[in-house]
Amino acid sequence: TIPKKVRLVEVGPRDGLQNEKQPISVADKVRLVDDLTAAGLGYVEVGSFVSPKWVPQMAGSAEVFAQIQRKPGVTYAALAPNMKGFEAALEAGVKEVAVFAAASEAFSQKNINCSIAESLARFVPVVEAARAQGISVRGYVSCVLGCPYEGEVPAEQVAAVAAELFAMGCYEVSLGDTIGTGNAGATRHLFEVVGAQVPRDKLAGHFHDTYGQAVANIYASLLEGISVFDSSVAGLGGCPYAKGATGNVATEDVLYLMNGLGIETGIDLDKLAAAGQRICAVLGKDNGSRVARAILAR
Ligand code: HMG
Ligand code: MG
Repeated sequence: TIPKKVRLVEVGPRDGLQNEKQPISVADKVRLVDDLTAAGLGYVEVGSFVSPKWVPQMAGSAEVFAQIQRKPGVTYAALAPNMKGFEAALEAGVKEVAVFAAASEAFSQKNINCSIAESLARFVPVVEAARAQGISVRGYVSCVLGCPYEGEVPAEQVAAVAAELFAMGCYEVSLGDTIGTGNAGATRHLFEVVGAQVPRDKLAGHFHDTYGQAVANIYASLLEGISVFDSSVAGLGGCPYAKGATGNVATEDVLYLMNGLGIETGIDLDKLAAAGQRICAVLGKDNGSRVARAILAR
């Protein structure tokens, strides 16, 4: 049976914007975050505390955190790949961080310049320091349904990394189809295999829409009992270390799916679509959400 409630993790301000080459002002980023929470999103990934040499667009994350209007009950999170990032996040008043590993060695090297094992060892002190400060840590695994450098990635490899993140204290592990090559069959298989190592209510799905399969993959995930999904307003984004990969599944598209299934989310689709359209205008980009385009054309 399909879950009655679903939690959406909005990653647009982070995953959506991190790959943009043009400068985006702090004010525009702040406006995006505030628009998203006004639409009813309860969780927003606001930015990253990573090396500005690696991901220049996320350099202003501390300023964004300083200027957003914190709405009670909303979780505002940031990526932190190591202790330096964690300390910067702490300084910025961040209450939830995410560490990010990969299921493929080549992607781990390209993305965070170390092996999978080295990355996991780096995350241990982050999780410990976070726990001591009452900060929750979410874990990511990238390349769960394919790697841009290695091709196929066995589900067992994903399960091993996810289980380590969960065991070290990540309260939830989000499985990322970084390059969006996954399909519904592979998604079901993935959650069957990973679900044997990590409880399904501690897993999330993070689908990019490169092949247009993300909504189908989310439906396949629901059938496997998964109830947390990451998405990006207007389908913004792409990973700087995964060439050709497009944005995350659009939050508007996910919401339309959930509404049709009678699944509660507490999000206002019209307000969400307006928020997405606004940031697309700032970026000078077409809206990547099919649902938003349809709504706005009404
Ligand atoms: P490194 O170069 O190996 O780091 O990078 P290092 O420890 O050797 O330090 C080198 C320099 O970086 C030093 O500065 C450090 O201070 C600095 P220098 O002395 O040369 O002036 N440094 C930092 N600066 C700011 N913040 C930090 C930090 N750490 C070190 N936290 C590192 C290793 C991990 C830092 C680097 O590779 C990096 O920042 N990578 C970020 C990659 C990234 O953000 N990728 C995108 C997010 S992941 C993603 O999109 C996938 C996801 O969406 C799921 C999915 O779709 O699959 C989550
Ligand atoms: Mg991603």
